[in-house]
Amino acid sequence: MWTGTSFVSLSFILINCCTFGFSDRPLNFVQLGNKFGYAVEEIIVITEDGYILKLFHILNKKKVNTPVLLMHGVTDSSDTWIVRGNTSLALTLAAKGYDVWAGNSRGNKYARKHIYLDPNTNDDFWDFSFHESGFYDLPAIIDTVLHMTGEKKINAIGHSQGNTIFYVLGSTRPEYNDKINILIALAPICFLQNVPPPLSTIIKVSPGLDKLAKTLNVVEILGDKSLVVRFLRAFCPTPIVGYKVCILGLIFSIAGSDAEELEPGYVRTFIDHFPVGTSVKDLIHFAQVSLRRKFANYDYGIEGNMQTYNLTEPPEYNLSAITMRVALLYGANDKLSTVEDVAILRSKLPNVIKYLLIPRKLMNHVDFVSGRHMEDYLFPYIFDTLNGTDNNVNP
Ligand SMILES: *[C@@H]1O[C@H](CO)[C@@H](O)[C@H](O)[C@H]1NC(C)=O
Ligand SMILES: *[C@@H]1O[C@H](CO)[C@@H](O)[C@H](O)[C@H]1NC(C)=O
Ligand SMILES: *[C@@H]1O[C@H](CO)[C@@H](O)[C@H](O)[C@H]1NC(C)=O
Ligand SMILES: *[C@@H]1O[C@H](CO)[C@@H](O)[C@H](O)[C@H]1NC(C)=O
Repeated sequence: MWTGTSFVSLSFILINCCTFGFSDRPLNFVQLGNKFGYAVEEIIVITEDGYILKLFHILNKKKVNTPVLLMHGVTDSSDTWIVRGNTSLALTLAAKGYDVWAGNSRGNKYARKHIYLDPNTNDDFWDFSFHESGFYDLPAIIDTVLHMTGEKKINAIGHSQGNTIFYVLGSTRPEYNDKINILIALAPICFLQNVPPPLSTIIKVSPGLDKLAKTLNVVEILGDKSLVVRFLRAFCPTPIVGYKVCILGLIFSIAGSDAEELEPGYVRTFIDHFPVGTSVKDLIHFAQVSLRRKFANYDYGIEGNMQTYNLTEPPEYNLSAITMRVALLYGANDKLSTVEDVAILRSKLPNVIKYLLIPRKLMNHVDFVSGRHMEDYLFPYIFDTLNGTDNNVNP
């Protein structure tokens, strides 16, 4: 979906890439924290199946007790919570005295490492989807936070795939429900049955794209150091045309349009930190969820399913087993997390304590992490949910 359009402007990109050069590496999470006045601790988490993930902890002098764990969306990273500086969620929480932790899911730039699989040469590294992020990465991250803080529960905030993985965790390892005080799901993603075009069109042809990827042996997509992403980094900040192609053409057509909140002046920073990679299998699994109209395990076809599950169809995740408290915060103009699909999720989760349409007409998928004025139209609801002031809103 990125590749096609980026080739449209290939010649332009080439000129830009070489005049700008492939610019300096963007600041990492620790450096971003330092830039905005916070010391950050970097912790290495190793999952049961050998993936090595970076977890960041903002060292906060005015710490309140229950830790808050932030989990990013697909092809995104922990940076998403901090790049807007003192108007971003991580630092606003820290300023209010919360103990803030930001995790990373396997495959992105902070989690492209394994104890023995080499992501550059061993395709097995990329044999994962959001299933493994929920089943292996999250428990390892949560247990690390609980161990380091001595707490019994975390508060969690997940954006997009960052909340999907909690539904996988809560249904496949139900004992983890008790380790989560509340999940605040921003732009909830579980069902994808009502996604509009152009993404729905891409989803329809995804089985063909999957075959093509297998033929070409493509297993990683939108990697931080991939040629496509480096082209985007060089091209997207170009005045006017870069904004038109990258933001209006690519991001907004998939996420919903809100030009006020992702302004041209922010594009360079935005694109320096997103996208940063995942597996092809991750995207294909989401496409399967959409096409099969079921939140189920990965579909390997009848033969593969028999081998993997001893069933002809992949088993559905049991959403009734997710007993953790969940707050669903969604946007009217979000083309990925549609109002209809969030309603289905709400009807299936047993413990929804808040179901809230953010009262901003243009609220789209990226405004939840990248919006210019999130502190006005989003954060008050998050703080109220964390401190329990107005819970039980349309449960
Ligand atoms: C963020 O920092 C800027 C510049 O240092 C300052 O003017 C602004 O008031 C700060 N905003 C918040 C929400 O702290
Ligand atoms: C697979 O399922 C069948 C039918 O339910 C069962 O008889 C068999 O023992 C299962 N095989 C394994 C390896 O679990
Ligand atoms: C799903 O989970 C619920 C609650 O734990 C349980 O009662 C039910 O039997 C489970 N359903 C299946 C199909 O496993
Ligand atoms: C909850 O958070 C909001 C937003 O920061 C704040 O205005 C309110 O006073 C807090 N309430 C409690 C009980 O801490």
